Amino acid sequence: MKILLSGGAGFIGSHTYVELTKAGHEAVIVDNLYNASEKVLERLQVITGKPVPFIKADVADRSAMRAVFSEHKFDAVIHFAGYKAVGESVQKPIEYYRNNLDTTLTLCECMREAGVKCIVFSSSATVYGPLETSPLEESMAPEDCTNPYAWTKSMNERILLDAVHAMPDWSCALLRYFNPIGAHESGLIGEDPVGIPNNLMPFITQVASGKREKLSVFGNDYNTPDGTGVRDYIHVVDLARGHVAACEYLLTHPGAEIINLGTGIGYSVLDIVNTFMRVNNIDVPYVIAPRRSGDMDSYYADPSKAKALLGWQAEKTLDDMCRDSWRWQSNNPNGYRD
Ligand code: WQD
Repeated sequence: MKILLSGGAGFIGSHTYVELTKAGHEAVIVDNLYNASEKVLERLQVITGKPVPFIKADVADRSAMRAVFSEHKFDAVIHFAGYKAVGESVQKPIEYYRNNLDTTLTLCECMREAGVKCIVFSSSATVYGPLETSPLEESMAPEDCTNPYAWTKSMNERILLDAVHAMPDWSCALLRYFNPIGAHESGLIGEDPVGIPNNLMPFITQVASGKREKLSVFGNDYNTPDGTGVRDYIHVVDLARGHVAACEYLLTHPGAEIINLGTGIGYSVLDIVNTFMRVNNIDVPYVIAPRRSGDMDSYYADPSKAKALLGWQAEKTLDDMCRDSWRWQSNNPNGYRD
């Protein structure tokens, strides 16, 4: 297959590029590098052993994207491009709706003109909203999203469901990610947040490397075994492999599918911290801090549909996730800015 990876220079996209290449597919990365480094392309060439087809473009730019689709005959699109910071989306809702919806609508228009009928969308478990009933299952009716970022994911799901309803020969997979962490075993690519990390694992790795003084554990009075928040952490390589499986499935199955990509196992913040310290034999100083607004007690997937439909399930362990996260951070103390 020949696949367009929109936003493919990012954390999930770059790992998906590696897994597509390993599976014998040809992928072309289209990215404006707004939230990614061009250095990732050099790293991908080292990992895959061949040049990386890359086009610098804004996925929302229709003329640029028409040129991409006229240059390449794609079998499918995997759509990662979009702004992704929950907190920032609350401060900049207009930019988030403009960018995250325009990219999808432009891709759909270009796909329709070019006769490309398969799209995998990078959705998020956050579209379930503040449901208290984990494990979360795809048929559950979501509650209202709690931030503009989550709404853009929900609205993009709606756009693609309606597009497939209007064009029954199209196929789409709406992949609801839980909490992606970890990095490729080479330590050459990984999560590279700009500024103070919002998410748990990059904050832990920056504390371990001495870049940050200590971790604030946001609350230890949740209704969980140790009182700290429970989430479904999934290795980014498992997540990437889920995208390959979804792409291959779409080629022979028209219609739309919503699919959780998680492990089905919930781990607490302290589980992550303690596992990280054990497997890497390194200290991560932390303090218990007040709860973070909007956080849930417990949030994890029912991953059975992905197994039944795609034959995919997560295989890597929490030890793998913690070891691989640390290898990336320790090899790249300043991410791709080294
Ligand atoms: C995980 C746990 C925190 C940081 C977010 C987005 C979601 C998705 C995944 C895109 C929680 C605790 C965190 C810290 C902490 N992204 N924590 N100290 O909030 O589950 O999900 O990332 O789709 O949309 O909302 O992930 O890593 O921020 O938090 O104690 O410094 O770690 O309270 O329990 P979250 P997270």
